[in-house]
Amino acid sequence: APNLSGRNFLKLLDFTPEEIQYLIDLSADLKAKKHNHEPHRYLEGKNIVLLFEKTSTRTRCSFEVGAMDLGMGVTYLDPKSSQMGKKESIEDTARVLGRMYDGIEYRGFAQSIVETLAENAGVPVWNGLTTEFHPTQMIADMLTVQEEFGRDLHGRKLTFMGDAGNNVGNSLMVVCAKLGMDFCACGPKEQMPSDELVAQCREVAKESGATITLTEDVDEGAAGASVIYTDIWVSMGESSDLWSKRIELLSKYQVNAELMAKAADDAVFMHCLPSFHDRNTTIGEDVFQKFGLPELEVTDEVFESERSRVFDEAENRMHSIKAVMYATLKNCR
Ligand code: CP
Ligand code: NVA
Repeated sequence: APNLSGRNFLKLLDFTPEEIQYLIDLSADLKAKKHNHEPHRYLEGKNIVLLFEKTSTRTRCSFEVGAMDLGMGVTYLDPKSSQMGKKESIEDTARVLGRMYDGIEYRGFAQSIVETLAENAGVPVWNGLTTEFHPTQMIADMLTVQEEFGRDLHGRKLTFMGDAGNNVGNSLMVVCAKLGMDFCACGPKEQMPSDELVAQCREVAKESGATITLTEDVDEGAAGASVIYTDIWVSMGESSDLWSKRIELLSKYQVNAELMAKAADDAVFMHCLPSFHDRNTTIGEDVFQKFGLPELEVTDEVFESERSRVFDEAENRMHSIKAVMYATLKNCR
C-alpha cells in the first residue's frame, strides 16, 4: 500500500491515482469496522486541532468523530476564537499549533492559507475546504460512486451541473481526471473552472484515460451520465448579493426530474450538502421570498428520490476523513 505517513492533504492534484484509490479503500475498510463495532483506536495519544474560519456541519463532525474513534483528542477553534490572521500571522499560528498537535485541519478562504499553514506547521495539515478546493469531500464522493458502480470507474460519466468553477466542481474535475472518468462541467461560461485548472486536469487525463468536457448545453451534459452532481449556487464567503445574478445564470441547470430523465437509466443524484432544496432554512427563506422561486439547484422531488445518494455521501465523509487522518498520521514520530 502507498505510504502517506507525514503527508499533507491539501489538494488531490498532489496525489497519484494509486494513492487516491488507497484512501478510498481505507475508507471502505474503516466503514466496515465502524458498522461491525470493531474498535480501531490506532492513534491513541495523539491530538489534533480543527481551525474553522467558515461554518460546517459534516466536516467538523467528521473530523471530531473520526478522531475520537481513532483514540485522539480534538480541539475545535471556531471562526471567532483563534488569533490567526488577526493578532497573529498564519505562519506563527502554524508554528505554535505544530508544537502542540499532531495534525491540523483548516477550513476557510484562499488555498494559499492552507498551503502556508502546511509549510510552517511541521505536522500534517488537512484541507477541510478552501475557496478553490474541497478534497476530503472527494474521497467520500468517490467511495459513494464506487459503492454504486464498482471500483473501476474508467469511462463512467459524472456531470457537475451549475456553478462548476466552485471548490466542489473544481475538485470533482481533478478527482475524475485522476480516476479515469468522463467528467463534464455543465454550466454557463462565467462559472466554469479556470483555464489553468482545466489544462492541468487535461494533462492528468492523458495518463488516466479520463476525458474533460465543458458545455453550456444541458442535454449534452446529462446524456449518458451515471452521476448527476450539483452544489449550492452561492458558496460560503461569497456575497449574498450574488443570488439574483446566479439565479439568472444557473436556473436552467437546476437538477429536476426532467433533467434526471436525460441521464443514464441507472444514474444517481449527488450533492455535497448543505442544499437549499427545501425552504426550511433561514437563507433559503430569504432567497425564496426575494425571488419567488419554489426550488433552487435541485428539486425536492429529485433530492428525496430513490436515485438520491446524498445521505450516503454525508456518512462517507466521516469514514473518509478518518482514513485521511489515519493514513497521514500513522507511524508519525
Ligand atoms: N459538505 C460539507 O463540507 O458540509 P459542511 O459544510 O457541513 O462541512
Ligand atoms: N461550494 C460550497 C460547498 C459547501 C460544502 C461552499 O463552499 O459553500
